[in-house]
Amino acid sequence: MKIKRICCIGAGYVGGPTMAVIADRCPTIQLTVVDVNQARIDAWNASDLTQLPVYEPGLDAVVARARGRNLHFSTAIDASIASADMVFISVNTPTKRKGLGAGQASDLRWVEACARQVAAAAKGHTIVVEKSTLPVRTAAVIKTILEATQKEDPRRSFAVLSNPEFLAEGTAIDDLESPDRVLIGGDDVSSIDALAEIYSHWIATEKILRTSLWSSELSKLTANAFLAQRISSINSIAAFCEASGADVREVARAIGTDSRIGPKFLNAGPGFGGSCFQKDILNLVYLCRHFGLLEVANYWESVVTLNIWQQHRIACLVVEKLFGTVTGKRLAILGFAFKANTNDTREAPAIRIARDLLEEGAKLSIHDPKVAEAQISRDLRLKPTAFATEALNGSGGWSQAASIEETVEGADAILILTEWQNYRYLNWSSLAVLMRQPAWVFDTRAVVEPADVRAAGLKLWRIGDGED
Ligand code: NAD
Ligand code: UGA
Repeated sequence: MKIKRICCIGAGYVGGPTMAVIADRCPTIQLTVVDVNQARIDAWNASDLTQLPVYEPGLDAVVARARGRNLHFSTAIDASIASADMVFISVNTPTKRKGLGAGQASDLRWVEACARQVAAAAKGHTIVVEKSTLPVRTAAVIKTILEATQKEDPRRSFAVLSNPEFLAEGTAIDDLESPDRVLIGGDDVSSIDALAEIYSHWIATEKILRTSLWSSELSKLTANAFLAQRISSINSIAAFCEASGADVREVARAIGTDSRIGPKFLNAGPGFGGSCFQKDILNLVYLCRHFGLLEVANYWESVVTLNIWQQHRIACLVVEKLFGTVTGKRLAILGFAFKANTNDTREAPAIRIARDLLEEGAKLSIHDPKVAEAQISRDLRLKPTAFATEALNGSGGWSQAASIEETVEGADAILILTEWQNYRYLNWSSLAVLMRQPAWVFDTRAVVEPADVRAAGLKLWRIGDGED
């Protein structure tokens, strides 16, 4: 079976970049990425490539090569499904907000809607590929929906595969072009071969792993749980380092050189953010409870608990260091995205830390090279305000600043919350004169050169090695 036309439902952080790379590497396949969100599709079609809805280094070049040739973005969902041999489902699967499993289970309404839409619009034989991260056995639900329509019209047939995505934001293009592995779960060999053939255009065969559907679905949740667990582990040790006088970077280097542990994902920080770690662990926790594995559920839940604690802990220590009150004080927040090189703020540590400080009455001046003011406003559930530094009425407020200097002007402290490259090389002596003294730098990402900050007369708190 040779795939000629692909439809991908969901033009988000995964669907857009993933299909762009497939289109780039497989010029004979026609790909259409569809979405219900017209504004998002318009942005993907924008002639100005800086306006793409997703910011990823290298994405603009890939889109420029393939768009209009064999890569298309459209809202014509039914027509695109009807002409496709293969349909990827790459829609959002957030944590349920209400009802059964609220706060833990994945909300599968968008996945089910896709399955029903494919069932209604597909023609001939269609391979449906789960690209979204899904609870174990979701493929059975999709199959049941598809098979119901197959019975009504036997000219149509379906196969369902699981092909979870392991890209990380900020490095999505590199991750897609040189993945550690591609995982395909399924029981229909010819469909698995058809999908593997697509990836084999640029990925070595031994890196294309084949498993059962359920193992594939569970491997994705497990990979994220293990990665997040490492971050909570090193963050717990960072807190211990601060209390005991050890340095978490030295500890990380010492343990990371053990080849069984490895050096990656040992950077202590303000806690993990992003749309998936928390949601996927909570989903795992929900599934474990569902299967009666309470101890297993509690074990994984503690990874999230520690992460939330880490974020509150940072906000609390900022208040403590600033003489126990930040009411009316101007605090410069450098970085709002959940990590560098992305415009994504979903579950960003900056949100919880900023909300805690707003609650304390702080005036936050926020800078991020890629995050728009409207996004910060949605995340903080608060409109920006023009504020005077000396106002002491007790209510917190925030505004976005265009430059780092403007952000820092009159501030009592700088909080570095995202490890953007330009925050590594700040001119501390010129920033220090703009601040109200005594002034602090809280480096939650350990990106500054401590000697430079101190030489500028600033007090420094750095994650994992405490204070001046
Ligand atoms: P996203 O929110 O950026 O994009 C999802 C898109 O799907 C949205 O544009 C939405 O409008 C669209 N959509 C929803 N229902 C639709 C429907 N019925 N028809 C058409 N379009 C519909 O989400 P994302 O970050 O791309 O994540 C998608 C999935 O991939 C999630 O399951 C996530 O867990 C997983 N994942 C994400 C990442 C990541 O880095 N963001 C990495 C690996 C896996
Ligand atoms: C993560 C995984 O790395 C991907 O493999 C996975 O596909 C994706 O989730 C997903 O399923 O959505 P992502 O969240 O984009 O990718 O980015 P990461 O690089 O994993 O960073 C996640 C968070 O952990 C960020 O807030 C980052 O700052 C933090 N982090 C990461 C640390 O605090 N320390 C580290 O050492 C590494």
